[in-house]
Amino acid sequence: MTAGPRDVARHVVWGEIGVRRFPVCIGPGETARIGELWIDRGAGDAALVVFDGAVKPHADAVADRLRDVGVRVVPVAVAPGEPSKSLAELERICRVAARAGIRRTDVVVAVGGGVVGDLAGFVAASYQRGIRLVHVPTTLLAMVDSAVGGKTGVDLPEAKNYVGAIWQPEFVVMDTELLSTLPARELSCGFAEVVKYGLLDSVELFTRVERWPDPLPGDPGALVGLIRDCVAHKLNVVAQDERELGLRASLNLGHTVGHGIEAAAGYGRYHHGEAISLGLLAALRISHEVGGASLDWRERTLAVLERHALPTRLDPDVAVEDILGAMGRDKKATAASFNMVLIDEPGTVLLRQNPPHEVVVAAIEELR
Ligand code: GLY
Repeated sequence: MTAGPRDVARHVVWGEIGVRRFPVCIGPGETARIGELWIDRGAGDAALVVFDGAVKPHADAVADRLRDVGVRVVPVAVAPGEPSKSLAELERICRVAARAGIRRTDVVVAVGGGVVGDLAGFVAASYQRGIRLVHVPTTLLAMVDSAVGGKTGVDLPEAKNYVGAIWQPEFVVMDTELLSTLPARELSCGFAEVVKYGLLDSVELFTRVERWPDPLPGDPGALVGLIRDCVAHKLNVVAQDERELGLRASLNLGHTVGHGIEAAAGYGRYHHGEAISLGLLAALRISHEVGGASLDWRERTLAVLERHALPTRLDPDVAVEDILGAMGRDKKATAASFNMVLIDEPGTVLLRQNPPHEVVVAAIEELR
């Protein structure tokens, strides 16, 4: 029998990053506990609640729970979509905060997906030289990836994520009930990152991901466990290499080609998770050609991506040269080279600088 949402146990994963120690609370209905956590963590008198306009009811619920414990709430809506990750929006939100009297002891609360998490996170990192931050991710992608690890920032017209900071939160609230109203396409996009964590973590996690029943979000208890395991993997890696000098780059599995596809196709055509779906397949082909990984991993990954309505074929009008050009401009590429994350099998990761050009081209061509 499947557990009802309220029967499901919550999980708390602790981030321990440098001197910072903070809880990531995962479970259905977690939003209702935000006031309790706020008091436990000694958070401030006022909250600047930066939220995606598309999830206003979730932001209102967060604001109500904060008001219940006496917090002054200053809400700021952000338009949905990547264009909001701009220096202009950063300035606008900081000026709202300044006019509302938000002080160094107050807290930014980010309610939304990756865009709001990155933008509001950078407001927290830079306003008055840095104030505290709470993440309330509302998408699967933000829960398993972007709300964890401390990356914040905005885009420049020249390139994505070019201005930002690493800024860890006070706590993170992941209310898995919010996923029941997330559009199917957004759930699938988040699932591409879940598949990535399966490949990075272990054969056990990969197999659990592979067997995940359609449709998402699926059994509430299993979902909490799945998110917990992705978060635990990421926090463990970030604890060892917060500033991405080595190991953290492994979290970019599928992202080198994926970012190239996103940029070459024109931002918006493929959502991030969709480009990562294609990028994972290219990385697994290159893992076979360069490192001898079994092609079974690619076939099994392709099957699970397909089952969750993620693209496994690249639109023919996206040119390989444009993808390669965009890969060279990615900020993860150094001037002379780019790094690729490869696997031998799930849980065994290799970082490879400059894999042979013809192998990379063939792996992208295969996606057609
Ligand atoms: N999304 C990869 C990272 O946070 O490092």
